[in-house]
Amino acid sequence: MSVHNENIKKISTKALLEMKDKGEKISMLTAYDYSMASIIDQAGMDVILVGDSAGNVMAGYSSTIPVTLDQMIYHAQCVVRGVKRAHVVIDMPFGSYQCDESEAVRAAVRIIKESGADSVKIEGGEEFAGTIKKIINAGVPVMGHLGLMPQSINKYGSYALRAKDDAEAQKLISDAHKLQDIGCYSLVLEKIPAVLAKQVAESLDIPVIGIGAGGGVDGQVLVMHDMLGINNGFSPKFLRKYANLFDEITKAVGSYISDVKSSSFPNESEQY
Ligand code: KIV
Repeated sequence: MSVHNENIKKISTKALLEMKDKGEKISMLTAYDYSMASIIDQAGMDVILVGDSAGNVMAGYSSTIPVTLDQMIYHAQCVVRGVKRAHVVIDMPFGSYQCDESEAVRAAVRIIKESGADSVKIEGGEEFAGTIKKIINAGVPVMGHLGLMPQSINKYGSYALRAKDDAEAQKLISDAHKLQDIGCYSLVLEKIPAVLAKQVAESLDIPVIGIGAGGGVDGQVLVMHDMLGINNGFSPKFLRKYANLFDEITKAVGSYISDVKSSSFPNESEQY
């Protein structure tokens, strides 16, 4: 489906709320650069997330911890230039909102002002409610993120399923309601039991987007490199691979190498 024409309407936070009300599932995928964002947008994606997973899939870090605010703004600018319709949400990276509320507001404002993106996403519940409220009051819509929060990997010690026990599940439910009450327009739930995610989604008015959180939520998000099979070393249970670009690219690049070596590229018609 091509959705690029002059009358394209940008997907707003209000439109996402309306999708939940209508029972229309929300599609969300990450992107980090102009070309892929443009393809994903033209394919009809509702939300494009410039995730700090850029640290893993673009920069090759083993976690999202080292990603900087300037790096997120750079990726956000690239993506925004390629998008006409999708709602574009940018992850606030580790260190940009945890230390000081004013610094957090400044960081969120920089992201929106310098990239032209539509909103930001923040990992954390009750403990960041004050900060998130100030960012929303400054005019920046915020998507919350609970469950597995990769920026807290050093606290958890692993990327295992979260909220398995009752205490953590109860805290997650309370955090989700807190985020809705302070004005978050949406919420990501990562890697938690499907039953819990469904319960949260059904009890909230705002759309809940899941990753590894089952089908009972209002939409799904995946990391683009994972679902396209670019990143062939990552196969968690929740991931459905829609392509095997690792093999496709390896094959194409291998053919190019052998054509260069054999002098079959370029041929007569490929030169001036
Ligand atoms: O950074 C990211 O890509 C994310 C998704 C996994 C939700 O936060």
